[in-house]
Parts: sequence; C-alpha cells; structure tokens
Amino acid sequence: MNARVVFYSRTGTTKKVGKALAELLRCDSEELIDTKKRKALLGFIRSGRDANTQRLTVLEPLIHDHESYDLVARGTPVWGGMMSSPIRTYITTNKSKFNRVAFFCTQGGTENERLFSDMEALYGKNPASVLALRGADVKKEDYQDKLSAFADSLNTE
Ligand SMILES: Cc1cc2nc3c(=O)[nH]c(=O)nc-3n(C[C@H](O)[C@H](O)[C@H](O)COP(=O)(O)O)c2cc1C
Repeated sequence: MNARVVFYSRTGTTKKVGKALAELLRCDSEELIDTKKRKALLGFIRSGRDANTQRLTVLEPLIHDHESYDLVARGTPVWGGMMSSPIRTYITTNKSKFNRVAFFCTQGGTENERLFSDMEALYGKNPASVLALRGADVKKEDYQDKLSAFADSLNTE
C-alpha cells in the first residue's frame, strides 16, 4: 500500500504517534510546520482561540505531493474539542487530492465528541479508520496495542 502519515504536533505527542504509525505502515511521514508561533502561554491561548473559531493558518510548503498516495493518515492534537488549525488548513487545501484517509488524534482527556465528525465533514467522505489516544498513555508508552490495531485496520483494506 502506498501510504503517507501527515501530522501536526505542538509539543511532540502527536509526532511520536505519527512516527510510530509510519513505521508500522512502512511508509514516510510528513510533519506540518505552522508559520504561526504556538509555544508558551500566548501560543497556547492563540491555539485554543484559532481552533474554536475554525481559523486557518499558513503552513510551510509541503515536502511531498500528497496526490499520489492510496492512503493518507492525518494526526492532530485536540484543541478545545476540535482539530488543530494546521490540520484544518491541510485538509481544507488538499482534500481533493486524497483517495482514502484515516484520522488519529492525541488529547489530554478521554472524551472528544466532535473531532472526528468535524474532520469527516470537512473532508467530505468517511475515514477508513479513526484512533484517539491519551497523551499520558503515549508518554508512558502504553499505546502500542491500539496503534497496531489501527495500522492493521488500514493495511487489510
Ligand atoms: C490550546 C489547547 C487546547 C486543548 N484542548 C484540549 C481539549 O479540549 N481536550 C483534550 O482532551 N485535550 C486538549 N488539549 C491537550 C492536547 O490535545 C494534548 O496535550 C495533546 O496530546 C498534545 O499533542 P501535541 O504534543 O502533539 O501538541 C489542548 C491543548 C492545547 C494546546
């Protein structure tokens, strides 16, 4: 399968999952780089506000052309119950290019009622699979079984 893992990560948690997923799928990954500063308290506040108002951002140019992949798995941190602005921007500007997609997220809590349905609505088609992981579980390396099952669900189609 010709796949690509694309993720945004403000503090490294989603990046860790994205890199591990790419290893399981034996494919490359691409990290979205935001031109907007999102570190420190001001960046935290800005990020929450941008996600809440569904504001787009300006990303650094992508390294790869994502048109040529059978599957693109996209990962985002949850911000205020919603997708991060960089992933919203990526989906909005690239959605016509994708064949199959899958979504994954990392989050502080366990609940997120809207995130995947919002991503699906923005993309306009059902994802092949979705996975939500708690950041605390990622940090203590207690996420591999769920990630392997997610990767298997993508490989078998
Ligand atoms: C602005 C902001 C808003 C957040 N809102 C939520 C939230 O609504 N629910 C939740 O479970 N976690 C929330 N979090 C926590 C992140 O989703 C979580 O720490 C995630 O694993 C961070 O991923 P990253 O290290 O890849 O940036 C929020 C974090 C930030 C910075």
